[in-house]
Order: sequence, then C-alpha cells, then structure tokens
Amino acid sequence: MEVYTEKQQIVTKINALKAKKLSLGLVPTMGALHEGHLQLVKKALENNNKVVVTIFVNPTQFDNQEDLAKYPRTLDSDITLLKTVSKTNILVYAPSVQDMYEGHTVSQKFDFDGLEFEMEGKFRNGHFDGVGTIVKRFLEIIKPDNAYFGEKDFQQLAIIKKLVEKYHIPVTILGCKIHRESNGLAMSSRNTRLKPNYKAAAPFIYEILKTAKEHFGTKSANKVQEWVENQFKKHDLLKLEYFLIADAETLKPIKQKSNIKVYRAFIAVYADDIRLIDNIALN
Ligand code: PAJ
Repeated sequence: MEVYTEKQQIVTKINALKAKKLSLGLVPTMGALHEGHLQLVKKALENNNKVVVTIFVNPTQFDNQEDLAKYPRTLDSDITLLKTVSKTNILVYAPSVQDMYEGHTVSQKFDFDGLEFEMEGKFRNGHFDGVGTIVKRFLEIIKPDNAYFGEKDFQQLAIIKKLVEKYHIPVTILGCKIHRESNGLAMSSRNTRLKPNYKAAAPFIYEILKTAKEHFGTKSANKVQEWVENQFKKHDLLKLEYFLIADAETLKPIKQKSNIKVYRAFIAVYADDIRLIDNIALN
C-alpha cells in the first residue's frame, strides 16, 4: 500500500491517476480506524477506481487541548487494517501538521448559513471552522470525484455539503450510515479510551435514542426531551451534555411537529472525560 506524508508527492501521484482518467474517492479520517471508517472506505471502493484515505489528527478542530493530546494515534495498525480491505486501490495520505498548515496552524473562518451555530457548534468552540479548513484543503489537494462522510457526525456531514456548495467545489459528497457495535454503541475512535465500567455503560446512549424515537411517535418533542434528561439524571456514570430534536435539514431545534419535515434526535454525553455523540432518524 502506498503511504504518502508529503503534499507534493501525493499531488504528483494524483495527477498521474487523473491523466489515466481514473475516478477518485476521498475518505478523510483522523485515524485510529475502526469498522465504521472501513464501511466508508468500502463504499468508496465500490464507486471509484482509487480511494485516498487521509489520516490526520487536525489540531484546529479541537477546542480541548487534552482531548487533542490524548487522541489515539495508531498509523501502523491503521495501515494494516486498510490492507485487509484493498492492497492495491487505497492510497494513504498521512501528512504532518507542518505539511498541512505550513507553520500557520489556524482555521479559516466560515459562514455555513447558521448550521455551525447549532449543537456541536455551541459546545465545541471553533470546531467547524477547523473541520471546514482541513476538509477544504484535502478536497483542493486530492480533487476527488466523490468524498465520503459518516452520519455518525451528522452535523459535520451537513456542513461539508454546505462548504462544497458555497465554494463551488466539484465533488459529490456522500453520507454513510452509522456503524455500531453489536451492543448498539456507535463506533468511535474515542471508544478505545473508555475504562471498562464506562464502556459497559455506554450502550445506554443508543438504548435511550431508540426509546426516544418510539416516544416521538406519540409525545411532543418537549416531553421526549424531558424524559431523556430524567433518564440521565438517574444514571451514575454517564453525564448528558445535550439531547435535542432538530429539523434534519436546517438542524434547528424543533418548535412544532410537522408531517412534512424530517426530524433527527442528537445527543452528546460525557463518559468520564470522554465525549460521545450519537444521533437517530425519527421519522
Ligand atoms: P473521524 O472521527 O476519524 O471520522 C472520519 C469519518 O468517519 C467521518 O466522516 C465520520 O463521520 C466517519 N465515522 C466515524 N465513526 C463512524 C461510525 N461509527 N459509522 C459511520 N461513520 C463513522 O470526522 C472526522 O474524523 C474529522 O472531523 C475529519 C472529517 C477527518 C476532519 O478532520
């Protein structure tokens, strides 16, 4: 498997692939790869001749320096895992911070038409400017035909679609379903840091989301929210940061239920010092 760490080298390679008229998929990641990431890579391989997987822990999207420092970095095992999917059609681009930011490790400021002010944007200062900066850069360097993002980070997916629309970037953005452990916990690189008792408790998050979905059929959004908040008040280990029901398109919190709108429930929970997010389609 070809692994690139420098922009110039990957650009040369991409140009050679483009000259051969090969189609290109992009799967941006921060590494510590798991089956959820691999689903994206597999989908990308189905629809493109070659797939670039970027592995880069992007400093500008972390508002918490400790979270950045502790973020798992496992490049060798990531490469081993990717080889199990394809030895010939995946290219890895794992640049250094210097290669990506050239000594200027700051975010560009974006206007995502308000999507950036909801949920994760409220609780993680500057997060989406950091995500927008790095994804825009990867799209400009790799120039893929298609790029793949998980619904696990539903707000991020919406923001990337907005980024591409606003900057007229010629790429198709495709969303992939949330991949879960058999106990329902949404797979995440951060799960590897959970202590055993928190790991055992964490599937509670998806249990609550599923029951919230059932309740949403018969109860008002406020009542569902109240119910969820009460469940977490009773929980010893997991601390709810937010639960809310929002319009899946605007991401604005629901005011009055409407039959013609699509809704989704979003949740962020602390398990010890580890922040877990999840979401579920409601209708
Ligand atoms: P990371 O958390 O590594 O996730 C990379 C991609 O994998 C994202 O699109 C994310 O939504 C998707 N993903 C993660 N867990 C998933 C799961 N359980 N099921 C389905 N998809 C899943 O998201 C980022 O990195 C970064 O913000 C990035 C976009 C790479 C920019 O730095």
